[in-house]
Amino acid sequence: MNRKIRIGALISGGGSNLQAIIDACESGESDGEVVFVGSDKANAYGLQRAAKLGIPTFTVDYASIAQGIRESPENIAPPDDFNMNDLLSKQSIFPMDCDVEKIKIFMVIRAIAEAKLLEEMKPYPFDLLVLAGFMKTLTPYFIDRVNTDPHKPRIMNIHPSLLPAFAGTDGYRDTFRYGCKVGGCTVHFIDYGEDSGPIIGQRVFQIEENDTLDTVRKKGLKLEWEIYPECIRLFAEDRLKVVSLSHPLKNGRKKKRKVVKILPERREGDFR
Ligand code: GRF
Repeated sequence: MNRKIRIGALISGGGSNLQAIIDACESGESDGEVVFVGSDKANAYGLQRAAKLGIPTFTVDYASIAQGIRESPENIAPPDDFNMNDLLSKQSIFPMDCDVEKIKIFMVIRAIAEAKLLEEMKPYPFDLLVLAGFMKTLTPYFIDRVNTDPHKPRIMNIHPSLLPAFAGTDGYRDTFRYGCKVGGCTVHFIDYGEDSGPIIGQRVFQIEENDTLDTVRKKGLKLEWEIYPECIRLFAEDRLKVVSLSHPLKNGRKKKRKVVKILPERREGDFR
C-alpha cells in the first residue's frame, strides 16, 4: 500500500487548484494530505480556504520585504548561507542583456524572502511542494534547499499553457491572443528556468471561434483541477522517474534534457 504523502502548497491568489488538490486528498483520489499553505500575499483567498479546513497557513510578504530594502538599502542582509556566484551560475530566467547589478539586487531580495519562506515551512515536514498559482519565480537558493536529492525533484507547478509554448505569467491570455486553435495546461517539476522543468502531464482543449479570453480561462482551469491531482497521485505512487535524455544536434554536439517517465502501476510484490 502507498504511504500518504505530505503536501505543502504555495499560492498567491484564489486557490481553486489548491481546493481541487485538497478535495482529491479527501476523496482518496490523491494519496496525500495538505500540511501547510503559504502565500506571498496576506489577502490571497486560498489562505482562507485552507484556514477554514484547519490547515496551517502563513504569509511571507514579498512586496513589503522589497519595499523595506528599497527604502533602506544599507540594511540589506542576505541570509548567512547565501552565495551569489552559485545562484548566478544556475538561474536562467534573465534575458542576456539584463543589467547584472540589477539581477544581483533581485537575487538578494528574493533570497531574503525565500529564507523566510523556508523558516515558515520548517515546522511542517513535507514530501512534495506544490505551487498552485504561486506567482513568484523561485531562485536556486530555495530550490536547492527543497530538492536535496538531485534525482528526486519535489517541487511541482501548474502552468496555464501547453509548455514549452507561452511560458510566463499569463499563458491563457498569450495562447488566446496568438490565435491558437488549442490551448492547454501543463504540470511540471520546477528547475532553474522559467516554466522550463521536466513535464509531468498536460491537457488540451479546443479554442472555438466564439471563445473569449474568459471562456478560454474557464476551459483551462477546469482541466487544471483534473490534471494537478492526477500528477500528485503519480508522485504519491512513486511512478515519476526523471531521466536525462541526450539528443544529437546538427553541429555534432549533444543536447541533454531531463524528462519525466511515467512508470507503470505497481503490482503486488513488485519492487522499485
Ligand atoms: C492558474 O491558472 C494556474 O495555472 C496559474 O495561476 C492560476 C491560479 O489559479 N499558475 P488558482 O489560484 O488556483 O485559482
